[in-house]
Amino acid sequence: MNDIKINRREFLRNLGVAGMGVLAATSPWLSAFSEVRDTQKERCRLGIIGPGSRGQFLMSFIAQNPKAEIVAIADVYDPSIEAAKKIAPDAKVYRDYRALLADKDVEAVVVATPLNTHYDIVMDAFDAGKHVYCEKTIGYTMEQCFNMYNRHLETGLLFFSGQQRLFDPRYIKAMDLIHNGTFGKISHVEAYWNRNGDWRRDVPSPELERFINWRLYRESSRGLMSELGCHQLQIGTWALGKLPDRVMGHGGITYWKDGREVHDNVHCIFGYDSGESINYGSVISNKFYGLEEKIMGNLGTVEPEASKYYFEEIAPAPAFIQMLNKWENELFDELPFAGTSWAPETANVNKGEYILGERSTIDGTSLLTEAFVEAVITGRQPERIAEEGYYASLLCLWGFDAIERGEILPFPEQYQIDYAPYGTRRQTIVS
Ligand SMILES: NC(=O)c1ccc[n+]([C@@H]2O[C@H](COP(=O)([O-])OP(=O)(O)OC[C@H]3O[C@@H](n4cnc5c(N)ncnc54)[C@H](O)[C@@H]3O)[C@@H](O)[C@H]2O)c1
Repeated sequence: MNDIKINRREFLRNLGVAGMGVLAATSPWLSAFSEVRDTQKERCRLGIIGPGSRGQFLMSFIAQNPKAEIVAIADVYDPSIEAAKKIAPDAKVYRDYRALLADKDVEAVVVATPLNTHYDIVMDAFDAGKHVYCEKTIGYTMEQCFNMYNRHLETGLLFFSGQQRLFDPRYIKAMDLIHNGTFGKISHVEAYWNRNGDWRRDVPSPELERFINWRLYRESSRGLMSELGCHQLQIGTWALGKLPDRVMGHGGITYWKDGREVHDNVHCIFGYDSGESINYGSVISNKFYGLEEKIMGNLGTVEPEASKYYFEEIAPAPAFIQMLNKWENELFDELPFAGTSWAPETANVNKGEYILGERSTIDGTSLLTEAFVEAVITGRQPERIAEEGYYASLLCLWGFDAIERGEILPFPEQYQIDYAPYGTRRQTIVS
């Protein structure tokens, strides 16, 4: 009868643990589900601001949740309103988000508008006493993110961001294994998100170009860093358990020279005083290597996106590979110009193991929205969820600045918040 509950049960089963307690150390935000109230009488009343592509995707999960009601939507674009009304036909419609915020029926809002609009909408929502789920990247600048996070602390209102990997079973299980030392000392995270496409949306009339393709223009977007990097940098710090000390970067428009203003390839190296590093790269004119975070320890490697891990020490290569190597080595030993040094490394026959027994298809987005609904009902902010979202946003914007300035930038200490896993150097509440 209740798909959402079944999902949660399946989620736990997939993680292979008896309960959430086991994972509390590495993924404490799962406390969102620790005291789920079972009554169907309690429903939270949500407003959706900006039900475009992502907003409709979020609505599709929320609309199935018996504990949630989408009471209002606000958008400035008719086609988005029409599409959203198909998902939530009874929702009130506002053209101005401020009217939705003034609506007493709305307890909490989901903000899925373009990046440059998040700040005003979220700050106004807090001022209006609404709990907030804001899509990543939360702010257009690091200062905005800092102010948004602090307003959440000041008001005591809930603050979630769209970091769905926090609720993805592949990542949760991988991080548990990583933090238990299964793969040894993690020295490096290699994260990339490659596509082959222009990243454009169809525009019904030319004057809507900047509005529809907001991702491609500087006034509204931080490009690949804010749109893709935000997700993967959070995985890097989650795996390493600490924040980097410096970043350097490079970016360019190398292929899609079509009037866009944001880079079509970006690369950043985030370095740690203790030696570790996170490389982040995104190219949108080649999709061969796709999307992955390779988390590399001295005992093994994890690829959460593929739901796989690989130990360094693997069983001997299959007999035929050994035979082939022997044959090739013997042949080339006869020749003066070739030795055996080029013989294939055994690593290339390491097919690894699945993190969850098989390739997982659960998307953390459904559980993230479910966690938000639970939090609105209970009024409890799950541990560390705002902070992970905050730092994910900070890192991608800091990397963006390094690319723009062409400099090695130290960690922006003025934006450090009080978050024990990543240090407690300072905390400032802005006025
Ligand atoms: N978590 C994820 O994996 C994920 C995936 C895609 C997008 N996103 C994020 O979601 C957000 C939206 O992305 P999208 O792809 O849905 O964009 P979109 O352009 O498809 O949708 C944005 C919607 O906001 C509306 N809008 C714009 N300005 C507004 C305003 N002032 N008031 C009300 N409505 C307004 C637009 O009309 C549109 O309907 C972005 O922050 C993006 O980074 C997150």
